[in-house]
Amino acid sequence: MKLWLLSFTLLCASNLWAVDISMPPTKSATTANVERGRKLLISRQETSCVLCHRIPGMKEGGEMGPDLSGLSQRMPADQIRQRIADWRAVNPQTFMPAYFSTEGLHNVAKPMKGKTILTEQGLEDILAYLLEVTKGP
Ligand code: HEC
Repeated sequence: MKLWLLSFTLLCASNLWAVDISMPPTKSATTANVERGRKLLISRQETSCVLCHRIPGMKEGGEMGPDLSGLSQRMPADQIRQRIADWRAVNPQTFMPAYFSTEGLHNVAKPMKGKTILTEQGLEDILAYLLEVTKGP
Protein backbone atom coordinates (compact mmCIF):
# COMPACT_ATOMS: atom_id res chain seq x y z
CA MET A 1 0.00 0.00 0.00
CA LYS A 2 1.24 3.50 -0.75
CA LEU A 3 2.49 5.35 2.31
CA TRP A 4 0.20 8.36 1.89
CA LEU A 5 -2.81 6.10 1.73
CA LEU A 6 -1.74 4.39 4.96
CA SER A 7 -1.25 7.74 6.69
CA PHE A 8 -4.62 8.95 5.48
CA THR A 9 -6.33 5.82 6.80
CA LEU A 10 -4.64 6.19 10.18
CA LEU A 11 -5.63 9.85 10.37
CA CYS A 12 -9.29 9.05 9.68
CA ALA A 13 -9.26 6.25 12.21
CA SER A 14 -7.79 8.47 14.92
CA ASN A 15 -10.50 11.06 14.28
CA LEU A 16 -13.25 8.47 14.59
CA TRP A 17 -11.99 7.36 17.98
CA ALA A 18 -11.43 10.91 19.10
CA VAL A 19 -14.53 11.27 21.24
CA ASP A 20 -13.81 8.68 23.92
CA ILE A 21 -10.11 8.06 23.53
CA SER A 22 -8.56 7.45 26.92
CA MET A 23 -5.41 6.20 28.61
CA PRO A 24 -5.47 3.60 31.41
CA PRO A 25 -3.52 4.19 34.66
CA THR A 26 0.25 3.69 34.35
CA LYS A 27 2.24 1.74 36.89
CA SER A 28 3.06 5.04 38.63
CA ALA A 29 -0.63 5.66 39.42
CA THR A 30 -0.39 3.84 42.76
CA THR A 31 2.27 6.28 43.97
CA ALA A 32 0.58 9.44 42.66
CA ASN A 33 0.95 12.39 44.98
CA VAL A 34 -1.32 15.45 45.05
CA GLU A 35 1.27 17.81 46.52
CA ARG A 36 3.92 16.91 43.94
CA GLY A 37 1.27 17.40 41.28
CA ARG A 38 0.51 20.88 42.60
CA LYS A 39 4.19 21.82 42.45
CA LEU A 40 4.51 20.57 38.89
CA LEU A 41 1.43 22.49 37.82
CA ILE A 42 2.71 25.81 39.11
CA SER A 43 6.21 25.27 37.77
CA ARG A 44 6.23 27.33 34.62
CA GLN A 45 9.51 25.91 33.49
CA GLU A 46 8.56 22.26 33.65
CA THR A 47 4.93 22.28 32.59
CA SER A 48 3.60 25.80 31.98
CA CYS A 49 0.03 24.53 32.43
CA VAL A 50 -0.95 27.78 34.16
CA LEU A 51 0.12 29.78 31.13
CA CYS A 52 -2.94 28.46 29.33
CA HIS A 53 -5.35 27.23 32.01
CA ARG A 54 -7.14 28.47 35.10
CA ILE A 55 -6.82 25.71 37.69
CA PRO A 56 -8.59 25.57 41.06
CA GLY A 57 -6.23 26.38 43.92
CA MET A 58 -3.79 28.36 41.76
CA LYS A 59 -3.43 32.12 41.79
CA GLU A 60 -2.07 32.44 38.28
CA GLY A 61 -3.96 31.23 35.26
CA GLY A 62 -4.16 31.75 31.53
CA GLU A 63 -7.07 32.04 29.15
CA MET A 64 -5.77 30.22 26.10
CA GLY A 65 -7.09 26.80 27.16
CA PRO A 66 -10.35 25.87 28.93
CA ASP A 67 -10.80 26.62 32.64
CA LEU A 68 -10.14 23.31 34.42
CA SER A 69 -12.72 23.92 37.19
CA GLY A 70 -15.07 20.97 37.55
CA LEU A 71 -12.90 18.92 35.20
CA SER A 72 -13.44 15.55 36.88
CA GLN A 73 -17.20 16.04 36.60
CA ARG A 74 -16.90 16.53 32.86
CA MET A 75 -14.80 13.48 32.03
CA PRO A 76 -13.40 10.30 33.59
CA ALA A 77 -9.82 10.15 34.90
CA ASP A 78 -8.56 8.03 31.99
CA GLN A 79 -9.70 10.67 29.52
CA ILE A 80 -8.02 13.45 31.47
CA ARG A 81 -4.81 11.38 31.53
CA GLN A 82 -5.02 10.99 27.75
CA ARG A 83 -5.59 14.70 27.24
CA ILE A 84 -2.47 15.60 29.19
CA ALA A 85 -0.38 12.81 27.69
CA ASP A 86 -1.18 13.48 24.06
CA TRP A 87 -4.08 15.61 22.96
CA ARG A 88 -2.95 15.36 19.35
CA ALA A 89 -4.57 11.95 19.30
CA VAL A 90 -7.87 13.80 19.62
CA ASN A 91 -7.09 17.06 17.86
CA PRO A 92 -4.05 16.85 15.58
CA GLN A 93 -4.16 20.66 15.22
CA THR A 94 -3.99 21.40 18.93
CA PHE A 95 -1.43 23.78 20.35
CA MET A 96 -1.49 22.10 23.75
CA PRO A 97 1.85 20.28 24.08
CA ALA A 98 1.84 16.45 24.25
CA TYR A 99 3.30 15.98 27.73
CA PHE A 100 3.65 12.22 27.67
CA SER A 101 3.79 11.08 24.11
CA THR A 102 4.89 7.45 23.86
CA GLU A 103 5.18 4.72 21.30
CA GLY A 104 1.94 3.30 20.05
CA LEU A 105 -0.46 6.01 21.19
CA HIS A 106 -0.95 6.97 17.58
CA ASN A 107 1.10 6.71 14.45
CA VAL A 108 0.79 10.14 12.92
CA ALA A 109 3.21 13.04 13.23
CA LYS A 110 5.60 12.30 16.05
CA PRO A 111 8.41 14.84 16.05
CA MET A 112 9.20 14.13 19.70
CA LYS A 113 9.83 10.43 19.34
CA GLY A 114 11.45 8.86 22.38
CA LYS A 115 11.13 11.96 24.59
CA THR A 116 8.44 13.01 27.00
CA ILE A 117 8.06 16.37 28.78
CA LEU A 118 6.61 14.81 31.92
CA THR A 119 7.80 11.62 33.56
CA GLU A 120 5.22 8.89 34.07
CA GLN A 121 5.13 9.78 37.76
CA GLY A 122 4.71 13.46 36.94
CA LEU A 123 1.75 12.70 34.72
CA GLU A 124 0.04 10.71 37.50
CA ASP A 125 0.88 13.36 40.14
CA ILE A 126 -0.70 16.11 38.05
CA LEU A 127 -3.76 13.98 37.41
CA ALA A 128 -4.05 13.27 41.16
CA TYR A 129 -4.06 17.01 41.89
CA LEU A 130 -6.62 17.80 39.20
CA LEU A 131 -8.95 15.02 40.40
CA GLU A 132 -8.61 16.19 43.99
CA VAL A 133 -9.42 19.86 43.36
CA THR A 134 -12.18 19.34 40.80
CA LYS A 135 -14.19 16.61 42.46
CA GLY A 136 -16.83 19.14 43.49
CA PRO A 137 -18.87 19.48 46.66
C1 HEC B 1 0.00 26.35 25.06
C2 HEC B 1 -1.21 26.30 25.86
C3 HEC B 1 -1.46 25.10 26.75
C4 HEC B 1 -0.63 24.56 27.71
C5 HEC B 1 0.76 24.98 28.09
C6 HEC B 1 -1.40 23.49 28.34
N1 HEC B 1 -2.63 23.39 27.76
FE1 HEC B 1 -4.12 22.11 28.28
N2 HEC B 1 -5.26 22.77 26.73
C7 HEC B 1 -4.93 23.81 25.89
C8 HEC B 1 -5.99 23.98 24.92
C9 HEC B 1 -6.03 25.03 23.80
C10 HEC B 1 -6.97 23.00 25.21
C11 HEC B 1 -8.27 22.75 24.49
C12 HEC B 1 -8.06 21.61 23.55
C13 HEC B 1 -7.79 22.04 22.13
O1 HEC B 1 -8.68 22.59 21.52
O2 HEC B 1 -6.68 21.79 21.66
C14 HEC B 1 -6.49 22.27 26.38
C15 HEC B 1 -7.18 21.24 27.01
C16 HEC B 1 -6.82 20.67 28.22
C17 HEC B 1 -7.63 19.73 28.97
C18 HEC B 1 -9.05 19.30 28.62
C19 HEC B 1 -9.96 20.32 29.27
C20 HEC B 1 -11.42 20.28 28.88
O3 HEC B 1 -12.24 20.81 29.65
O4 HEC B 1 -11.75 19.75 27.82
C21 HEC B 1 -6.92 19.40 30.08
C22 HEC B 1 -7.33 18.44 31.20
C23 HEC B 1 -5.66 20.11 30.02
N3 HEC B 1 -5.64 20.87 28.88
C24 HEC B 1 -4.67 20.03 30.99
C25 HEC B 1 -3.41 20.63 30.87
C26 HEC B 1 -2.31 20.38 31.78
C27 HEC B 1 -2.36 19.50 33.02
C28 HEC B 1 -1.24 21.10 31.31
C29 HEC B 1 0.17 21.11 31.82
C30 HEC B 1 0.80 19.80 32.02
C31 HEC B 1 -1.71 21.83 30.12
N4 HEC B 1 -3.01 21.51 29.89
C32 HEC B 1 -0.92 22.71 29.38
C33 HEC B 1 -3.79 24.58 25.94
C34 HEC B 1 -2.71 24.35 26.77
